[in-house]
Amino acid sequence: MNTQTDRYAVMGNPIEHSLSPMIHHAFAKQVQELIHYEKIKVPLDGLAEAISSFFAEGGKGLNITVPFKQEAYNLCCHLTDRAQQANAVNTLYWNEDQQLCGDNTDGTGLLRDLTQNLSQILAEQRILILGAGGAVRGILGPFLFNSQGSAEILILNRTYSKAALLAEQFQHLGNIYALPIDQAPKKAFDLIINATSSGLSGEAPLLLPEWIAPHTLCYDMVYGNQLTPFLQAAAQQGVQRKYDGLGMLVEQAAEAFCLWRNKQPKTAPVIRQMRQHNSQSPQLS
Ligand code: ATR
Repeated sequence: MNTQTDRYAVMGNPIEHSLSPMIHHAFAKQVQELIHYEKIKVPLDGLAEAISSFFAEGGKGLNITVPFKQEAYNLCCHLTDRAQQANAVNTLYWNEDQQLCGDNTDGTGLLRDLTQNLSQILAEQRILILGAGGAVRGILGPFLFNSQGSAEILILNRTYSKAALLAEQFQHLGNIYALPIDQAPKKAFDLIINATSSGLSGEAPLLLPEWIAPHTLCYDMVYGNQLTPFLQAAAQQGVQRKYDGLGMLVEQAAEAFCLWRNKQPKTAPVIRQMRQHNSQSPQLS
């Protein structure tokens, strides 16, 4: 058993409701390691300084969240392939030469939640992704890789040009395309992922009844202590398989924990623990 208390943190702004400290402490307890993991609210113009001070003072690893994932990417000396594909990082550490290294575990986290926890296959599936921001860029590489290019992925976004650009940038990896929303096909999808931030303003993105089949899985990358607006819309259309992004949050954290500690924690008990905590929490976390 490692008896040293290593320091970790998540940096973001806002950060008050982050569940990351609770998740990482649960992992550490499970694998019998001592860590201290805190949340740090970083001023919008203070990321570079906050990161260097953290590591210079002996910090071992950082998670980076909204709105800093792209800025942190630009500060890294070394980037993994998946971070480069995402153009953003959520996990940082220093190498032995004190150079900043960045990875992105978000896409892998979503993939694990879908395929391992929810038993959703991706190969040869019709997948609809709503949104074309940073969150989508982070998941496309792992999705296309996992399905070995056999999935059909349609990106729909309020601003079509952003969806078209993403489809163009990833089309060498598989069958991915974009359409303007008013040209959306009226056919069923196996998997519909909400990667828009519309829920933050209490809105749901467009969800056509024609897109829903009895087996369709609707997944919202956001999570909360009640059904998100997108999942409410799915419920109104009779969707049975509907899930929020809490599993993704825990899975991306497990991947980061493993990078730092070289131990893979079990995620199922921690997802249950976070679900219970969230259901008792009066606010979105
Ligand atoms: P993130 O990092 O969470 O992806 P982002 O890069 O700001 O955040 O992207 C937000 C996404 O949500 C975008 O695709 C945005 O659409 P636009 O590209 O048209 O701005 C989408 N979005 C935000 N609010 C929305 C709303 N009310 N309805 C539909 N889409 C919305």
